Amino acid sequence: MKTPFVTSSQLDQITATYPTPFHLYDEKSIREKARAVNQAFSWNPGFKEYFAVKATPTPAILKILQEENCGVDCASEIELLMSHKLGFEKQDIMFSSNDTPAQEFQYARKLDATINLDAYEHVDFLKNVTTIPEIISCRYNPGGVFALGTDIMDNPEESKFGMTKDQLIQAFKDLKSLGVKKFGIHSFLASNTLTNDYYPVLAKELFELAVEVVQATDVDLDFINLSGGIGVNYKPDEVENDIAKIGDGVRQAYEAVLTPNGLGQVKIFTELGRFMLAPHGHLITKVIHKKQTYRDYVGVDASAVNLLRPAMYGSYHHISIAGKETAPQTHTYDVVGSLCENNDKFAKQRQLPEVHVGDTLVIHDTGAHGFSMGYQYNAKLRSAEILLQEDGTTRQIRRAETAEDYFATLYGFDFD
Ligand SMILES: Cc1ncc(COP(=O)(O)O)c(C=O)c1O
Repeated sequence: MKTPFVTSSQLDQITATYPTPFHLYDEKSIREKARAVNQAFSWNPGFKEYFAVKATPTPAILKILQEENCGVDCASEIELLMSHKLGFEKQDIMFSSNDTPAQEFQYARKLDATINLDAYEHVDFLKNVTTIPEIISCRYNPGGVFALGTDIMDNPEESKFGMTKDQLIQAFKDLKSLGVKKFGIHSFLASNTLTNDYYPVLAKELFELAVEVVQATDVDLDFINLSGGIGVNYKPDEVENDIAKIGDGVRQAYEAVLTPNGLGQVKIFTELGRFMLAPHGHLITKVIHKKQTYRDYVGVDASAVNLLRPAMYGSYHHISIAGKETAPQTHTYDVVGSLCENNDKFAKQRQLPEVHVGDTLVIHDTGAHGFSMGYQYNAKLRSAEILLQEDGTTRQIRRAETAEDYFATLYGFDFD
């Protein structure tokens, strides 16, 4: 069973203060998660989690993670700029982008963020558009399929990201001759994995690669970045990943492969987004209509612009009705938003307790890749974000967009 991190009476108070829809985040569990991740990898003195900003690009959230000793992984110039404004120092910023525009590399160099090169061809591109840093990372793509036992997890062969082993070795040689002093290896082979084995298996593959690459190039390998990909239990019957077990699995691979090969100083980095934040955010929305045709519909005041994952990937997000968390699930509904798109459905044929207009719905696990994937179709505006603080009080950490925000880029263009 999934229960919201707020009680229905707390929600009554919060929705009396802030109009729905909004994303609500739980500071306490965010801090606990960051501490659990840091603890799980404390066996590695150089360990750092670089939170994937794309998951939740909200300054108040990034500051909480900063206080918990996390860095940031940025994918664009604006994410870099936001991180810089928040006081993340150069060693706290990873720049893992792809198909990267010249000005983004230039800005990353200005901040002296650690660049993670996605393509062998980017070695030349980087050299031509900016200066070569002292430390750099390259993203590896082994091709084929990535499997855990008999389970195929993903298909790197079809992925646009990363470079082949031969390219990575050549990139290290080229970069070394261009003056790079320290190197990192990065790879992201499967998304939203619900197994404690993903990181350990990935780590072993990267550690073996590291040994081979160092032998071939004689570079000073500074870090290995396991990137993101640890998933969360979106469905109530799924089992949560255990970060302590995951960290220990990586340690065992490290001690089996890196340490005996003289690489016992290599730092482990992660770029988790979903695992850090998804369970610690809810989308709070109210029921504004009910409709009966061939199905029973519940119409809410949020729509896919506030949470795209169900419309885009058919993703499951659990739904609780405030005050009816343990009520019997006697009805079958499609829970829908107001967009002129039939995929604007938070749930299809979902068993729920009877729903009434005015009920408050909690859509679970929206803290990562939730608000941030939002858009403005049908001229719908982005919602506010609210933080439930450790002392139980709430604070608005982003206001909702207004018509003036929407019009801001239009004034002067046949529009006054
Ligand atoms: C380069 C990179 N790092 C980290 C992440 C975060 O992944 P996750 O949210 O699955 O942990 C992503 C997600 O798209 C990514 O592209």
